[in-house]
Amino acid sequence: MPVTILVGAQWGDEGKGKVTDWLAEDIHIIARYNGGDNAGHTLNIEGKTYKLHFLPSGILRDGVVSLMGGGMVIHPERLLKEMQELATQGVDVSPQRLKISTNAHVITPAHQALEKADEETRGSSKIGTTGRGIGPAYTSKFARNGIRASAMRDPEVFGEQVYKAIENANKILHNVYQAPTLNASECAAKYSREAQRLAPYLVDGWAYLNHALREGKKVLAEGGQATLLDIDHGNYPYVTSSNPTAGGALVGLGFGPRQVDRVIGVAKAFCTRVGAGPFPTEQDNDIGAVMRGDGSNPWDDFGTTTGRPRRCGWLDMVALKYAVAVNGITELALMKLDVLGRFKDIQVAVAYDADGQRLEDFPVDQDLFGSVVPIYKTFPGWQTDIMDVTRWEDLPAAAQSYVEWIEQQLEVPISLVSVGPGREQTLLR
Ligand code: GDP
Ligand code: IMO
Ligand code: MG
Repeated sequence: MPVTILVGAQWGDEGKGKVTDWLAEDIHIIARYNGGDNAGHTLNIEGKTYKLHFLPSGILRDGVVSLMGGGMVIHPERLLKEMQELATQGVDVSPQRLKISTNAHVITPAHQALEKADEETRGSSKIGTTGRGIGPAYTSKFARNGIRASAMRDPEVFGEQVYKAIENANKILHNVYQAPTLNASECAAKYSREAQRLAPYLVDGWAYLNHALREGKKVLAEGGQATLLDIDHGNYPYVTSSNPTAGGALVGLGFGPRQVDRVIGVAKAFCTRVGAGPFPTEQDNDIGAVMRGDGSNPWDDFGTTTGRPRRCGWLDMVALKYAVAVNGITELALMKLDVLGRFKDIQVAVAYDADGQRLEDFPVDQDLFGSVVPIYKTFPGWQTDIMDVTRWEDLPAAAQSYVEWIEQQLEVPISLVSVGPGREQTLLR
């Protein structure tokens, strides 16, 4: 069957961009199904570094068409800037290679202003968002007063819709938050100009995809964010406002479940998280600092989008088993195994202690999740640099045992192990 879904299995930044790019060799269309430029994917290809936010990671492979799905939210100016930056790096971002679904929603400056005001109001319980206006853009969509990308086909009408949206948001900004208001006329004029530039990229995404599927084309549905940031299945309210889980691919792109035969989960060999919220295996100490790296390498764990240091911790099997279940993951890509070569001992959470009770199932109750203590199993480390290893057989035995143990626990194959950011640092099993 022709559709593979690729989903983040932890809190994001697992290395989805690298895996998507890697899989893109055999794929015709890569379609992002959720989120916006809260996503940040860093790709290292032949010594060059590319940073993607809105654009599907297939954009870096010749011959692949990239589709921004209807489940996404799009900020025209920031999208155009990203396209421009890639074009200067020699990437073809013409409408032949890049398509925007007409039912994607538009992020306005009001969404960003509302998010800022909301985060300030939350005080110490702020979400720690990426500040891109993602949550309020989805709020508009679900409140049925959002603006769809299709409106960009008529820049004048689009401008009018933006004007109205900003005026409405101004009332909330002023009356509810006592925050500065925005100049609706200026915003509308700017959005009209940008619409003219983006209109050639618009397609009805469902039609484009379903025609391609009928022609026997292969599609990779690429998720932004990840399972534990899912609005329904993540650590609510410390989540994003879309559905990064596999079901989000069907809704966000418009095809049926019977088209899908592979769901690839992407997980780090440890865990990271940016933003606020519970993180049972977090190592807010020297261990975490060693996992993160000091920032001297582009692959060290600092956010692609915001530059924030990522919170780091040991692998959490309770959360990973949950991700396998809620996404129907059929195989796993295990990333950044090289990083664990820095440790003498490696810990993995196998269960949680909840006030004396052993929990093996991920709890939906977020207060409970916030209070659990991990129960760890300790593995011997291999204490060597494995970034130059190119074959599974050449990994140290301790590294192989670690991967095999995870596989047995999850009951899904680990088909890909990554030992560095580059395309060639990928071991197939
Ligand atoms: P994404 O959002 O899931 O695409 O992941 P990010 O790009 O935000 O973060 C993953 C980071 O890890 C990027 O800088 C990648 O270049 C890097 N990376 C991917 N795989 C590996 C790996 O196996 N080892 C190391 N050291 N870095 C990796
Ligand atoms: P990729 O695709 C990691 C986090 C933010 C914050 C929460 C809500 O690169 O894996 P938002 O701006 O979405 O309203 O923020 O979600 N977050 C991510 N964390 N990777 C991402 O994307 C993220 N996108 C959002 O840090 O905690
Ligand atoms: Mg990322």
